[in-house]
Amino acid sequence: MVRPFVFGTNFKMNQTADESAAFYRQLATSLQIAPATHLFVIPPFTSLAAVNEVAGPPPHQIWVGAQNVHWAPDGAYTGEISVGMLLALDVDLVLLGHAERRRYFHETDVELNRKVLAALSAGLRVLFAVGETAEERAFGVSTETVLRQLRIGLHGVAPEHLKKIQIAYEPVWSIGAGGTPASPEDVEPIAKVIRSGCAELFAALGGEVPILYGGSVDPSNAGTFTALPDIDGLFVGRAAWTVEGFIATYRAGSRGVEESRRDQ
Ligand code: PGA
Repeated sequence: MVRPFVFGTNFKMNQTADESAAFYRQLATSLQIAPATHLFVIPPFTSLAAVNEVAGPPPHQIWVGAQNVHWAPDGAYTGEISVGMLLALDVDLVLLGHAERRRYFHETDVELNRKVLAALSAGLRVLFAVGETAEERAFGVSTETVLRQLRIGLHGVAPEHLKKIQIAYEPVWSIGAGGTPASPEDVEPIAKVIRSGCAELFAALGGEVPILYGGSVDPSNAGTFTALPDIDGLFVGRAAWTVEGFIATYRAGSRGVEESRRDQ
């Protein structure tokens, strides 16, 4: 079975609505998307309406993602955004479990599980991020950490929702300007752990879940990660915040995917 190549970026707390809409428009007109490939762009909430206007009605060639969602359908949760609000803007996907949400906003595995279940049952795709901190790595508990995040975060996911899930492995120590880029040798064993965690949770269907790598990915290293047998895509921050950077990183990543498919 060939899993799709999944590639995209999260703008984090960057870009106005006009900037995100211009990015999406330029990307959609500059890129010929290869078969068995899914692209996504995750702008801030305030950009979603403007990006939706550019993207037109679904299905979208380039998935539009949100950076978070609340688990409750509505209620007294000041500052939060519901699944229904995202669906009203034709959002395709929601990012859950990003290291910055876990670290700065103290999102727990159990809360993330509630969000995952709420998003999936409303029909949204989920990009679920896992990864160990530098400290967890130093203590030798990367495997345990990632498996815990996976087992709790995806607990109770119905097999019919599995095709809406993609997992991003992002070692926290590799993310952002202060991060240390990981090597493919660092990533490979944990990608295998995630793959076997998916098999444990979802039996044979677990083999169909795309696993993305993220953390200081750029055109120089993108192909080294996608050449790994258990890595099916890339989740990119800084390097993909210009359309040129997005396309250059995407092209480098696709070359790695082709290599790995040839070897299988
Ligand atoms: P980075 O961000 O590519 O800028 O390291 C990755 C991420 O936070 O997902």
